[in-house]
Amino acid sequence: MTTTSKPRAAKAKKSTKATKTTALAIDVRSAEIMDIETPALVVNLFRGVKKPGGATGAVDKALGGIITQLIKDGEIKGSAGETTLIHTLGKIKPSRVLVAGLGPQDKFDVQVVRRVSAEVVRFLRRKGISSAATIAHGVPIGIEDGLDPQESGQAIAEGAHLGLYKFGNYLTKNGDSTTEFELLTVVELDKARAKAIDAGVKLGCTVAQAAITARDMVNEPANHMTPTRMAEAAQKVASEQGLAIEIMENAQMKKMGMGAFMGVAQGTDEPAKLIVLRYDGDPGNPENNLGLIGKGITFDTGGISLKPPGGMEAMKGDMAGGASVIAAMEIIGQTKPKINVLAVIAATENMPGASAQRPGDVVRAMNGKTIEVINTDAEGRLVLADALCYAREQGITRLVDVATLTGAMVTTLGKACTGVMGNDDQLVQQTIDAGKKTGEKFWELPMFDEYKELIKSDVADMKNSGGRQAGSISAALLLAEFVDGAAWVHLDIAGTSTSDKASGYLVKGATGVPVRTLAQLATDLAASGAPKKSKTKAK
Ligand code: BES
Ligand code: MN
Ligand code: ZN
Repeated sequence: MTTTSKPRAAKAKKSTKATKTTALAIDVRSAEIMDIETPALVVNLFRGVKKPGGATGAVDKALGGIITQLIKDGEIKGSAGETTLIHTLGKIKPSRVLVAGLGPQDKFDVQVVRRVSAEVVRFLRRKGISSAATIAHGVPIGIEDGLDPQESGQAIAEGAHLGLYKFGNYLTKNGDSTTEFELLTVVELDKARAKAIDAGVKLGCTVAQAAITARDMVNEPANHMTPTRMAEAAQKVASEQGLAIEIMENAQMKKMGMGAFMGVAQGTDEPAKLIVLRYDGDPGNPENNLGLIGKGITFDTGGISLKPPGGMEAMKGDMAGGASVIAAMEIIGQTKPKINVLAVIAATENMPGASAQRPGDVVRAMNGKTIEVINTDAEGRLVLADALCYAREQGITRLVDVATLTGAMVTTLGKACTGVMGNDDQLVQQTIDAGKKTGEKFWELPMFDEYKELIKSDVADMKNSGGRQAGSISAALLLAEFVDGAAWVHLDIAGTSTSDKASGYLVKGATGVPVRTLAQLATDLAASGAPKKSKTKAK
């Protein structure tokens, strides 16, 4: 089997086993690693190991101890993400061996597998190598505390797809690399374990594809990704996954009393959309439900409270919350958890048009509460207020909203983790725990009553800007006014929705955070059943 030519990749695509997402196909084979004809065989090494064992040890032996020698010479350390390429000169069937560092053994987990998998395929692509075979990291034979084979397969697939991702929609010629990495074969001798790995690979491809759906939407410039185009993207997900969808137009939203959302939408000529997707996974039990609410500002100029020009182009990504909610529904439609999920995305531009709202305007949200618009740039909380009301009106009792809500969040937590706030300890914890499984990090911020002072208004029930103090918390406190007693969690992804650089499975630009966690949360909530009366934090 030669794996470098284009037709070969096309053939792999047709094989029943291969699972394909974008340019990459991943298949799983039950075979002896040294019998595989491949341009590169990927083995691994923990940091500090002097004499490799398992598959790496077997390869080392067949190559006359070259890996041991490289370790001895300090050229291989086994640090996480380290890649060392060795030519085998015909000693074994694979023409090269790539030793991938896994880092320290006590820090090893599925997240390391995702990162290493991504670094490995990106390294091979840079070298112009278009296919490889790999062992399933973390599942060596006979190691009791190793990874579950399915989890390893899933992490390998997620890391590879997400790490290879490129947004090239507007590049008229392919810039940096001429070769695409096209085929990854995961090799495991044991048939039962290979089958489990294969199930994991399939799930990983589904999950990664959805995260890529979100990344594509976020990376798309705002003259293309308008609210109308967001609605079309949701329509596509709905028809592919068999979900119910409803798109509401301005006139209807006005009639429903969505004055907060419509106040933002009046500054632009682009029609706003309220996108509603519905997955009925437990139709007999309407109380077993989850609402996913997304901020879909397709461009945030700040409105009349105009933003400074420097870096404003990043505000094309102000719909990342909405995109991640749509993309999470893509996974949920396929994994089919036993829970009813309603997705509500409030999509509009925030523009300073001639009929834009002014600072000082007072708007009335769907639940009747009034908001003084101190700053038209605090628009996310306004559109979310009505989206939350709508979800409550639809009978949703567990809410998770996702938004690039505040610059203050980037100042507070940077890009390492998403800020979590909420009114329900259990749902907050379930979200954080779902993130531990997906490798997406979350950190809770407090919602003490003392902060409520910040959004008190003289003329309305509240004001939309609390000034310089605790900016992310005051924004969340406004949202809390619209959840009407439901268990609710707010995720501020202002920092985590984009990355400044390629690192692990992230690439520069949109990250797809928190798509995988939202889907994981739906799965976890489905497994734990309808919510019991949980202790809600004192108001
Ligand atoms: N979309 C922004 C928040 C943002 C900033 C996201 C940077 C990603 C990166 C949001 O609509 C906004 O402008 N918030 C204001 C609120 C303020 C006026 C109270 C902010 O954070 O400055
Ligand atoms: Mn804004
Ligand atoms: Zn915004």
